[in-house]
Amino acid sequence: MGTILREHLLQPSATSMDVPGVRLITFPGNPSGPRNLTFAQHPGSCPFEIKRVYWLHDLHGGAIRGSHAHKTLYQLLTAVTGAFEIVVDNGQIRRSFHLDRPTLGLLLGPGLWRVIRALCDGSAMVVLASACYDEDDYIRDYECFKEYVDLNR
Ligand code: TYD
Repeated sequence: MGTILREHLLQPSATSMDVPGVRLITFPGNPSGPRNLTFAQHPGSCPFEIKRVYWLHDLHGGAIRGSHAHKTLYQLLTAVTGAFEIVVDNGQIRRSFHLDRPTLGLLLGPGLWRVIRALCDGSAMVVLASACYDEDDYIRDYECFKEYVDLNR
């Protein structure tokens, strides 16, 4: 994807409408143990069965990741260190989310273009995913994504 389009996608639209398939989740606290221990499980605060966990780490402030959509995958993103801006776009609505604490998760369903930007050096993100890695599940071109969501609307 060209730099201009990628930068454009980092600009959220003015709308305050929710994006279907996107949800901020506050993980339950840890009443019986240390406050600085946070967890997600399924069933529980993670709405899908977890098949894969991966993490983005040692990111520098301004690093851009993502810039793709998934056809079927559900993911739950958490900033374990540092902070991130995540711009989510369903082809009609675009909205920006901030993840800046390990007690907050962002649920992303299928059919959502996402651009992830680390906001400070050393940022790290853990991602829970509903399926194993499958390159065929990715849509990596924004115009293809628009065609895909128009066809599947
Ligand atoms: P990608 O999901 O595009 O990462 P990001 O959005 O952070 O840039 O993945 C980049 C590459 O890493 C991909 O081409 C293959 C590899 N990869 C795996 O092998 N397994 C995984 O679980 C993930 C997430 C990526």
